[in-house]
Amino acid sequence: MKKYNNNDFSIKDINKVVNLKGWVSKKRNLGGLIFIDLRDRSGIIQVVVKPENEFYNIAESLRNEYVIEIDGVITERESKNLNLSTGEIECIANRITVLNVSKEIPFEITSNTTALEDTKLKYRYLDLRREPIKNKLITRHQITMSIRNYLSDNGFLEIETPILGKSTPEGARDYLVPSRVNNGKFYALPQSPQLFKQLLMVGGIEKYFQIAKCFRDEDLRADRQPEFTQVDIEMSFVDEEDVMTLTENLLAKVFKDVKNIDIKLPLERMSYDEAIKYYGSDKPDLRFDLKINDITEIFKNTEFTVFKNVIENNGIINALLIKNKADQYSRKDIDKLTEHVKTYKASGLAYLKFDEEITGSIAKIITQQEINELKNKLNISNNDLLLIVADKYNVTKTSLGSLRNKIANDLELIDKNIYNMLWIVDFPSFEYSEEENRYMACHHPFTSPKDNDVDKLLTDPGNCYSKAYDIVINGYEAGGGSIRIHNQDIQEKMFEALKLTEEQIKEKFGYFVEALKYGTPPHGGLALGLDRLTMLLTNTDNIRDVIAFPKTASASDLMSECPNTVEEKQLQELGIDIKKCK
Ligand code: AMO
Repeated sequence: MKKYNNNDFSIKDINKVVNLKGWVSKKRNLGGLIFIDLRDRSGIIQVVVKPENEFYNIAESLRNEYVIEIDGVITERESKNLNLSTGEIECIANRITVLNVSKEIPFEITSNTTALEDTKLKYRYLDLRREPIKNKLITRHQITMSIRNYLSDNGFLEIETPILGKSTPEGARDYLVPSRVNNGKFYALPQSPQLFKQLLMVGGIEKYFQIAKCFRDEDLRADRQPEFTQVDIEMSFVDEEDVMTLTENLLAKVFKDVKNIDIKLPLERMSYDEAIKYYGSDKPDLRFDLKINDITEIFKNTEFTVFKNVIENNGIINALLIKNKADQYSRKDIDKLTEHVKTYKASGLAYLKFDEEITGSIAKIITQQEINELKNKLNISNNDLLLIVADKYNVTKTSLGSLRNKIANDLELIDKNIYNMLWIVDFPSFEYSEEENRYMACHHPFTSPKDNDVDKLLTDPGNCYSKAYDIVINGYEAGGGSIRIHNQDIQEKMFEALKLTEEQIKEKFGYFVEALKYGTPPHGGLALGLDRLTMLLTNTDNIRDVIAFPKTASASDLMSECPNTVEEKQLQELGIDIKKCK
């Protein structure tokens, strides 16, 4: 086994006889002296081979990424490199052994390589040798260990649950696995261990956690992978406060252990309704202010037909006020912002630029009184820009919420050195699906309604709130969970509210409903997205950076070329015929 790591050595180790093993990161020949940057997982050390060395020929033959062993002596460097932890020393080689050679590498193993993402993914094992990726995996490990230690110290048992299971009602599409033994039947890969962890509570485990692989066949984004990892937690005899307090303490511990950052507890809490009202999102980024303003009232008597129609149809008129930046926005810029809100189904974006003269798309349409009221209500000064969406409530809020993030990025309003964490609480139990023509569970059908709302489950589902909570960090949903229903009657009412038939209930989760009848304790939990947490703690906005072997946006692995076709014989065994999709 390797005895030393490169960065074990410093100026204190002068004259130490060492044995090093690693990869040739770089080789230079300067006036007969050969300098090798030897890389191992811990970092880089400079190795010097003098012309009189009997292994000089071997040193000359070395190429990048050869694996070598060096016997040598640590000495002080003449010209020090203080950017490197071993920059004050070097190793004078006595003996060089080539442990393995390497083909010419397809891209340079440097921190700021210009290689294309696809090339790096195809040769991911080489990409892993690069500092930025390796460091992120190290941080991921530290996070995982910090979590494991904290939860284990607090009485939680780490328990694995099945990967081959029955479809869970989590909302995304399942990855299915055909069964050979039971032809025509399928397993589903877990979207989360939700039902199993609840069953562990029925089983008397009381405190459970799992670093759980989850699989969801959904559209991928920069913060979504088809297979990802959750820190899954469930506890018995708890209420919302207990789960949120435990999670806050856990996160504070992780931030302290991994980054030496002190998180101020307790974290801020904001109701879902408030988050939507002011930030147009249930994962608001509060590292900057820029709230959404409701200006509907100012236009209650407007003659401007667009606004008038919106108000008559119970819509709203809302605006973002961009202070002292009107002169930075050209017509073209505003057109781009308009395109942006349109992707969120807003019909358009009106704007006003305030100065001695007021200009903008609706400057000539609205009245002086309306302008005065806007100025008063929003405290408008010269060179302010007002961006206005008038539409249905949800469309207005979500489009302005997204515009808020875009503008903050464009104008660099975000302090990237801070972490903002908050809880979003008091989620509605249901959202109405126009497509399905029924109410759907906002979280999942096992989320407990608020005690006061149990009676509304069937009579007024639109106004029913749940004991669910999400933890939001810097505008990312880093985790979410809820107190579950443990009472049989309430669970049945919930299914009824979701318009699930007896047959569907039995078919989908009959075994689970049966379990609830055998003395289920009150329980609740949550799941943190481990990949997202690692993204946040390593300051990347690309989830692929924190996963050793990630998939592309089209859910494929370029290295192993999966998914791929299988042999006809395998299909036959499974009883599967492939039809071409249109
Ligand atoms: P939820 O669906 O909110 O809750 O997932 C929990 C957290 O997992 C992360 N996450 C993802 N990360 C990467 N790629 C994805 N495709 C992806 N999907 C989700 C997010 C999210 O907050 N069973 C419940 C938890 C519970 O109620 O205890 C659940 O899975 O950070």
